[in-house]
Amino acid sequence: MKQNDMASALLDWYDRHARTLPWRVSPADRLAGVRPDPYRVWLSEIMLQQTTVTTVKPYFERFLSIWPTVNDLAGAQDDAVFAEWAGLGYYARARNLVKCARVVARDHGGVFPVTSKALLDLPGIGPYTAAAVGAIAFDEPATVLDGNVERVMSRLFRVEMPLPASKESLRKHASDLTPQARAGDYAQAVMDLGATICTPRSPACGICPWSAPCLARAAGDADSYPRKTPK
Ligand code: ADE
Repeated sequence: MKQNDMASALLDWYDRHARTLPWRVSPADRLAGVRPDPYRVWLSEIMLQQTTVTTVKPYFERFLSIWPTVNDLAGAQDDAVFAEWAGLGYYARARNLVKCARVVARDHGGVFPVTSKALLDLPGIGPYTAAAVGAIAFDEPATVLDGNVERVMSRLFRVEMPLPASKESLRKHASDLTPQARAGDYAQAVMDLGATICTPRSPACGICPWSAPCLARAAGDADSYPRKTPK
């Protein structure tokens, strides 16, 4: 299967099965050309870094209702933000969240920079978040590599080298597959595939849009990837 056909197969699947999440644009709005709000995309990606989708949802909704824009968040008291963050853990994220909002408000007029390269200069935004926001908010064909994507790539290509040594090879595979068009939908489609089909245990290969090109599926050993270093 060619790389472009693989991206199309995944995007077709996403059009039918995308999870409904509060930071996403609905399929109807998407067809009407509505773009995601970079503030919502950024906030969700920071919250989702070490926390599950289920836990994040109500926190995300509360933050949005209290601070609907990045300028609102920039003007918040630190303690008010930390109080709302309580329960999400990893409090450095909350400190950087406020710092980042203030930099965007003060230095960028309340408008997020539109490239992953420029996003990287903001507090609390590392390579993963920069790529995710660049892709999802601005359709930049950036390579978004999280644990889900690593697992999907390790199975598709039956990568024998264990993580973390295989990381750059997995990144290359992920990058080669990323399409130029609909990069934001594509990034979220791979995440959804990893979360709902290509799960760590008992992946649902029978209903996977990438079952045809998947080498691990062909070998029948998908759940043994990514390989672990022997103890
Ligand atoms: N995990 C991290 N970012 C995500 C997103 N945008 N959608 C679903 N799961 C995610």
